Order: sequence, then structure tokens, then C-alpha cells
Amino acid sequence: MYTIAIQPDDAPLASGRRQSFSHRWLELAKESGHEVRIVNVYDEEHFFSQLKGSEAFMWAFWNAPTSRELGKRMMAALEHVNALTIFPNWRTSWFFEDKISQRYLMEASGIPTPTTWVFWRRQDAIDFLKQAKYPIVLKLAFGICSDNVCLLHNIEEGEYWVAKLFGEGVTTLRIKEPRPLFREMAARGRDAAKALLGMTPPVENTSPDIQRGRILFQEFIPDNDHDLRIIVIGKRAFAFRRMNRPGDFRASGSGLIDWNPQQIDEASIRLTLNLAKKLGQQVITFDIVHRNNEPVIVEMSYYYEAWTVFQCPGHWVLKDNALEWIEGKMKAEDAIFVDLIHEIDRKCSLSL
Ligand SMILES: Nc1ncnc2c1ncn2[C@@H]1O[C@H](COP(=O)(O)OP(=O)(O)O)[C@@H](O)[C@H]1O
Ligand SMILES: [Mg+2]
Repeated sequence: MYTIAIQPDDAPLASGRRQSFSHRWLELAKESGHEVRIVNVYDEEHFFSQLKGSEAFMWAFWNAPTSRELGKRMMAALEHVNALTIFPNWRTSWFFEDKISQRYLMEASGIPTPTTWVFWRRQDAIDFLKQAKYPIVLKLAFGICSDNVCLLHNIEEGEYWVAKLFGEGVTTLRIKEPRPLFREMAARGRDAAKALLGMTPPVENTSPDIQRGRILFQEFIPDNDHDLRIIVIGKRAFAFRRMNRPGDFRASGSGLIDWNPQQIDEASIRLTLNLAKKLGQQVITFDIVHRNNEPVIVEMSYYYEAWTVFQCPGHWVLKDNALEWIEGKMKAEDAIFVDLIHEIDRKCSLSL
């Protein structure tokens, strides 16, 4: 039996739900007789001593900056000293919510993806725009639900964003309509009244980061009315289709999901199971569109809305290079937990 340190999570999801992996992990650990230690990563004074004597540490940190920015650093530091089995480990999480890192990993490992260009100098971006074939896709490194993905139809639109991104920076690619003056004045009045009444601002900064000094363009893949989301947990692939938002090329965040496994092409399942193995991921989510019937990956992530996994009627595994369908629903939290215990078992048997 092991001692497993768990950081409680309670993430607000884009779909309006809340999500906690830790809630289920606690139940599973208790059911299987492991000892649980609830820790607090935000507690500067006690966190490291709370971990002492544990075999593993689990924290499903999510995309909000205060969670993700700390999560990536903390997991990497703990893994560096090799004392604990970590979920998510560094391989699994280092490129989370960073499409620029993903672009380099995809190229370095030969992952099929739309052609992508990242520029770190304004002039290089301008030179690119002069000879680009429009439309092209512009993405910020960080963003969810298609908020920071848009189409550029001509050089003028491209130059607008180059000026922004190599100027003061942006937090989103959505162009906000300015508020009418009377609304703006009313909002400012409310803020001033709150300050005068001594009402405290929110404890946590939830506003997105300012992104600047780099730009990512991507080949636009036409004729997709949906994307595929394939979530690989260990050796299992869960998959569903997300239909595009009405009148839009983007599927992410549409909420229009089809879980029918008959609609998922075998090539995509094989590709993702093989990639997850080759890259050594504990968990990886792929967003896929098709170019001439061939799957190409537009995003990779370790985090997702877990209820979408539980809606899948089954999942696929590869046995002797043949795809096998395993009927039945499974919770993502359960699959992650089972895999983690195996990982600790393996580590312990190696050190015997
Ligand atoms: N290069 C592309 N060509 C065509 N459609 C794309 C491309 N990249 C992304 N999309 C569409 O836009 C959506 C959002 O893109 P994605 O890179 O996954 O960002 P997000 O982080 O917002 O999910 C995808 O779900 C897909 O439908
Ligand atoms: Mg996506």
C-alpha cells in the first residue's frame, strides 16, 4: 500500500460545469486501501513537508494562470529530484496550453499537423504575410474554446495583429466592441463605489496573460464541419466528434458533441495511440481535422472536460497492432488512478 499526496482541485470549466479529479482519486485511494495525504501547493510554509513520506503526488492543475503556471513548475521541480511518482509528469504537461511549444514538439517528432510558422521578430512576421496564401489561421499560444484562434483573410488583417502582438500585446484575438459611453461610465461608477465601501477585489487573478513578442500562423485546412477529439489515457483511446459552431470553421467550445464511435476513423485512433506511446504520455488529448481524408493534429493537451470521456460508450486499445473496441463507460479519473498505481509498482519493483 502506498501513501499518495493529492492536491484538491475544483476547476470552473468553459462549459459551465465544475470539475474535480481529486474528489474521485480520494475515493479510489480509500477503496483500494492506500493512504491519502491532502496537501496544499499554495502553502509556502508547509507544502514540502506535507509531501514527505509519500510515494506519489497528483494534481490535476487546469488552464487558469494561477493553476497552470504553478502546476507546471511544481511538477517539474518534484520530478527533477526523482523522489515521487508524479501526475501529470513533465512529459505529459510541459506543452500544456502553449501552442508554440506544441508546434516545436510536433515538428521534432514528425506529427502530422497543418504547416505552422512561429516568428519571434516583427519583420519576419511581416515578410511572411507578404507572400502568404490567404486565408491563414492565426493562434495565440494560450487560449481555449477557439477564443484565441481566428482566420486572416488578407495582409491588412495580418498586419493589424502583428502590430498588436509586437506592440502592447493582447489577451485574446476576439475583437471586443467598445461599450457605449453610458455603460462604461456606469461600470466605472460601480467599481468606484465598491472601492469606497471597502469591498475587497477577488482573491485570485483569473484574467488571462498578456501575450506578446511572438506570433503563430497556421495553414488553414478547409472543408471540415467538425473536429475529432481523441483523449488517450495510458493505452486507451476515447473519441468523439465536435461539430463546428454555426457558420464557423472552429469546433472547439461549440458544445455540439457526437459520441457515436462509428463516426470515428480508424486512422485517427491508430495515429493517436501510437503517438501517445512514442511520446511517452500519461495522458494526451488530440484535436484533429482532416486534410484530404488524412488526420492532422491542430492541438495537444493533457487537460480536458472529463465528463466527455464518461459519455463515450467504450474505448479502443491496440493489441498486436490490431484495434480492439472495449465496450463500456469508464471514468477518466479511474483510468488515471489505475495507471498511476501501476507506475508506482513498476518503480518500486525496479528499486528492489
Ligand atoms: N489549421 C486549422 N485549419 C482548420 N481548422 C482549424 C485549424 N486549427 C484549428 N481549427 C479549428 O479551430 C478549433 C480551435 O483550434 P485549436 O487549435 O484546437 O484551439 P483551442 O485551444 O481554442 O481549442 C479546432 O477545434 C478546429 O475546429
Ligand atoms: Mg482545441
